Amino acid sequence: MTDWQLRDFVPSDLEELVRLDDASSTAHQPPVFALSDVVSAVSARNPAVVAVVSGRIVGAAVGRVEGDQAWLLRLALDPTWRGRGLGSSLISELEHRLVTAGVRRIRALLPVDETGTAAFANSGFTARPSMTLFEKSESVDPHAATLLRELGGAVPAAGLWQQVAGMVDEKRLIERRVVLPLARPAQAHAHGVEPPRAVVLFGPPGTGKTTFARAVASRLAWPFVELFPSRMAAAEGGLAAGISAAFQRISELERVVVFIDEVEEIAAHRDGGLASVAVVNELLKALVSFREQDGRLLVCATNSVRLLDPAFLRHGRFDYVLPIGPPDEAARSAMWERHLKASGEGVAASALVAASANLTPADIAHAARTVSQQMFERSIDEGERGMATAADYLEAVGALRPTLSADMVRDFTEDIAQFART
Ligand SMILES: Nc1ncnc2c1ncn2[C@@H]1O[C@H](COP(=O)(O)OP(=O)(O)OP(=O)(O)O)[C@@H](O)[C@H]1O
Ligand SMILES: [Mg+2]
Repeated sequence: MTDWQLRDFVPSDLEELVRLDDASSTAHQPPVFALSDVVSAVSARNPAVVAVVSGRIVGAAVGRVEGDQAWLLRLALDPTWRGRGLGSSLISELEHRLVTAGVRRIRALLPVDETGTAAFANSGFTARPSMTLFEKSESVDPHAATLLRELGGAVPAAGLWQQVAGMVDEKRLIERRVVLPLARPAQAHAHGVEPPRAVVLFGPPGTGKTTFARAVASRLAWPFVELFPSRMAAAEGGLAAGISAAFQRISELERVVVFIDEVEEIAAHRDGGLASVAVVNELLKALVSFREQDGRLLVCATNSVRLLDPAFLRHGRFDYVLPIGPPDEAARSAMWERHLKASGEGVAASALVAASANLTPADIAHAARTVSQQMFERSIDEGERGMATAADYLEAVGALRPTLSADMVRDFTEDIAQFART
């Protein structure tokens, strides 16, 4: 006989749900999903059901839908109603609602010995006992999180630095001059080293400037915010006002790597593109305040360092002006080795290194992708997975239109002599 009635959770049940949650647990460790997660879920109208006996809530099950998947965040049972099938009954009722909401997979994560463990087993859930829950609490301040979202920023994935193949000299330089002083400010200060606040990366297209900027943020585990000149230009009051507003908001973040690509668009010495005297001045002004705060780095990238206003590059504004050139042999070899894992197992990277001199990382990636696509199509046509040969890769390299012309390489060499500050 069923002695309880099941119904949907309603907002006025909240107080009783909290009381029940407190009384329910039989485990010796806190739940994976905190009570605040449960409250947020019901407040956001996720499916939740309660069991009522004589007007009192004796059980509750709360779900949280994420696309076609759901978490069963909480199964709470009044201690006097344990062992009577109430848990299974709540699960089944909630399951019905979740399925109706389009859910195809439901998960629950319970501490050992938690109440309801038997109910999950009885309801057709499969336990996966040999799993480890990894947890880490991040100290994110909600205001910063909102601001960051509005600025389109995020902390890049870990490991991007390690994924920058080769480029040993550039990596060493950036690591020593930029990453380490920012990562270990106390140690830097002890030696009289001021952590850098702003750097320019210059070099021909596709050599990895953006990649490096993101990799630095990843290495520091700082949020990365890219500012787009065209978007700032759309601000009320135009580009100068947009720049000022963007930097104002960024100043509220505790830590941040700010990236401006194609900075010559807004900092050229000639009027052209979006740049004007007023815009360059605004940027310089923003930079002065930016430099006064700890925990931040501005990275500006450009293909045309010679177009930048000399005032922009002056000492005291940018700490370093670093060239990022086409990959050297070691870098190309490392890049090929990585790309060859996809479709060219067995091909020696050394066979491709010479043929790809003066290709950019983007060119090499493109050639490798071309071969992967060919192998994919071949596997569709022939029904089996084959591996590409060195000849396939050399052919793709030969067919490529390289990004860099001889003129560009020569200009870059001149730019290094004239502008680099390492
Ligand atoms: N050292 C590297 N190792 C592996 N991949 C790289 C490396 N450098 C660049 N790449 C890849 O090459 C492509 C182009 O790199 P990126 O966009 O960083 O170049 P860029 O210098 O910013 O180009 P642009 O001047 O056109 O903005 C990307 O797909 C990137 O992942
Ligand atoms: Mg770029």
